[in-house]
Amino acid sequence: FDYKVIEKKYAQAILTQIRSKNTSQVEFRKGLVRLGRVLGLEIVEDFETEENPVETPLGVTYRGIKIKGFENVCIVTVLRAAWPLTEGLVKIFYSARQGVVAARRVEEKGMHGTEFDIEINYVKIPKFGGDDIVIISDVMVATGSTLIAVLRELLKRGRAKKYYIASVISTPIAIEKLRKFAQDAGIDLKLYTVAVDPELNSKGYIVPGLGDAGDRAFG
Ligand code: PRP
Repeated sequence: FDYKVIEKKYAQAILTQIRSKNTSQVEFRKGLVRLGRVLGLEIVEDFETEENPVETPLGVTYRGIKIKGFENVCIVTVLRAAWPLTEGLVKIFYSARQGVVAARRVEEKGMHGTEFDIEINYVKIPKFGGDDIVIISDVMVATGSTLIAVLRELLKRGRAKKYYIASVISTPIAIEKLRKFAQDAGIDLKLYTVAVDPELNSKGYIVPGLGDAGDRAFG
């Protein structure tokens, strides 16, 4: 397990805009799309490349590259907040297959320690296997309960070569839980996030955070 914080100025400026309570629904959504692109570009940097010679119209051979595994990417969107983030990711991983998971924290029952019960109502994921690279798109990684539940669902369906998480804000608690989960499950997991916020409040919201991402994006 490993994680990477995207320190790029562009990403930090967009994140600042969407953290602001004065940012409208439309701008919030556009911000998530922009961050999805940035996350996609960062994740693709982690892929290996191979030589790909092409002949240009001038009859000259150009020793180019291609990205290994690019065709084996499957993006899994955790509904509902990650929808715009995935829109950005797909601009980069334009040939990706896609799946969705509808997951919800059972907030009525409250947080137990730093865990939420997670209700998973719908899972639709293309077949994937040992050559595939799964990118899970989820805006907020608060307690990590949702992602761990999603990873469990994925592991029931097969084992990918590598798993990435594309997220906007994560917490140290969730990072530690994901580290342990990846170790126990024996999976290669890497989290990409634009920020790590220090705190969770008593309701399980990330502080300073950006509020409820699903509500802010979709009402
Ligand atoms: C939010 C968020 C994440 C999850 C993170 O979803 O979009 O999926 O909580 O929290 P966790 O790390 O503590 O599990 P929510 O359940 O509010 O659903 P929504 O996106 O449909 O609003």
